Amino acid sequence: MTNTLLGGLSVETFLTEYWQKKPLLVRQAVPGFTGVVTKDELFELARDPDVESRYVTHTETTWEVIHGPQKASDLKRKKQPWTVLIQGLNLFCPDGDELLHRFDFIPQARLDDLMVSYAVDNGGVGPHFDNYDVFLLQGIGKRRWLISDQDDRTLIEDAPLKILQDFRPVYDWVLEPGDMLYLPPHWAHNGIAIGECTTYSIGFRSPTYQELAQQFLNYLQDTLQLDGIYADPDLKHQAHSAQISDQMIDRVAETLQRITWTREDVRGFLGAYLTEPKPHVFFDSPDEPLEHDEFVEACTKDGYRLDARSLLLFTDGHFFINGEPVPVETDDQPTLQALADNRRVDTIAGLSEEGIALLYDWYCCGFAHPSANLME
Ligand code: SIN
Ligand code: CO
Repeated sequence: MTNTLLGGLSVETFLTEYWQKKPLLVRQAVPGFTGVVTKDELFELARDPDVESRYVTHTETTWEVIHGPQKASDLKRKKQPWTVLIQGLNLFCPDGDELLHRFDFIPQARLDDLMVSYAVDNGGVGPHFDNYDVFLLQGIGKRRWLISDQDDRTLIEDAPLKILQDFRPVYDWVLEPGDMLYLPPHWAHNGIAIGECTTYSIGFRSPTYQELAQQFLNYLQDTLQLDGIYADPDLKHQAHSAQISDQMIDRVAETLQRITWTREDVRGFLGAYLTEPKPHVFFDSPDEPLEHDEFVEACTKDGYRLDARSLLLFTDGHFFINGEPVPVETDDQPTLQALADNRRVDTIAGLSEEGIALLYDWYCCGFAHPSANLME
């Protein structure tokens, strides 16, 4: 699969020559691809209040964005070009989850989500750049992509979305169903629908270092342990009682220097941070869960799979699911690693009692299902 997906390039060549470096156009990356949702399903998601969507319409010079849920009356034929974009399609649709994970030749820790857009003729979100890597896979119809590696990233002031003031494209490609364009961060691009079309964007995480640091400090709060109580047996009479003394500042500065962290703290932080579900994600526990024995029988026969909303990652024997660390017995680790890598395992035979209890617990929380169970 990776073979057509990258136009015959090996993953190694893609990583060394293209990833985060230069665009790659792949004709027929996914032969026969026309999308994972129909236009009606896409519009239904756009109208759903639990789904993050944007509706973008424009004239020659003005842009308008409406955040979801969308009105059915907007998703109709209009004079002005428009497009509707749905974030996190992988969360709502197992086929979307599968499509996203075809790209896990890039580590899952870097994967973000699958977005889909539908546009009428001439619709699009305008010339802009993104801070993240993206694979743009054409669903139905055709889209013209103009792209540029320009350094000028000045945006139109006061526009409701990021639109480049002076876009100077250097490549001009028309993508047809199954064609794909990879763009590194900061490459300017403008996708213009030719007739009605859908585009699937496989996007990657790109946290700023500031965000990582802030989240890490949040994480550290819960593990921080500084003993002792502020004390000043050497206190001297101050000329100004309202003054914060240098001695007090020195004493607190010295105390704060005792805050340290280890590589294990960073590991624990990354596991929790990278598997934390997005704020609007909720899991559905099964209404009438299988009994433990029925569960084991179902999974032994048909296998076990993660829910489309679940995130399971591991590092050096430590496992994390949906924001929480989970202890896993050494003998169970290969099966759990296979589950994390492939998001499914064919059987759970061979797992210890504790391992099976863990999988049963995840099933009861709605994090995973016996493979034969239809996912909601
Ligand atoms: C789109 O699908 O219209 C926009 C995708 C992008 O430009 O990142
Ligand atoms: Co973009």
